[in-house]
Amino acid sequence: MLIILALVTALLILVALWVAVHLLSSGVNAITSAYSVGCPRQVLPEIVAWLKVPGRGTILDLGCGDGRVLMAAQRPDRKVVLVGIENNPALYVRTKLWLWGRAHILFGDGLTTHQPSVDVVFAYLSPRMMAKLEPTFHAHFPSATRLVSLQFPLPERRAQHTILLKHGRPHAATLYVYEF
Ligand SMILES: C[S@@+](CC[C@H](N)C(=O)[O-])C[C@H]1O[C@@H](n2cnc3c(N)ncnc32)[C@H](O)[C@@H]1O
Repeated sequence: MLIILALVTALLILVALWVAVHLLSSGVNAITSAYSVGCPRQVLPEIVAWLKVPGRGTILDLGCGDGRVLMAAQRPDRKVVLVGIENNPALYVRTKLWLWGRAHILFGDGLTTHQPSVDVVFAYLSPRMMAKLEPTFHAHFPSATRLVSLQFPLPERRAQHTILLKHGRPHAATLYVYEF
């Protein structure tokens, strides 16, 4: 009887933990108050087309969420290096485990991180984040030759390409591409 009670309690704890991680990682970002909404899956092919890197290049998703952009950018030869940074702790844990061995998922503030070997940066952040990113971009990502931003442009710099996405949604309609 005691064993059954212990098993049921353990099961209930596991379910509660699972629900907590799911709620924390799918709702509002506890740190930035930004919504942790991934980009619509329909726009992934168009995004990936602009994330191309030569050879063993590195792609960084700044605020990677569940890592869907990184997974879409993976090539069949698996040569491209995929890095994601996420500051929502629960989402970070979930994505880190989910993409184990396929992408490097880092925990922290993507706006203060220093990634010297990144070639292409992808961002789907808020206008406030883009304004913070603009002045420090080169210092934090010195080897980046391209920034691809979904929906929100850098406030000052003019994008080389502004693409109206064929399968866009009101909250994910435009891609801004900056070449450096
Ligand atoms: C709109 S979602 C985009 C997720 C993913 N890039 C995609 O396109 O599917 C923005 C993500 O960035 C994360 N985020 C916001 N500010 C951040 C910061 N300063 N550093 C790291 N991650 C951040 C949020 O927690 C959220 O998961």
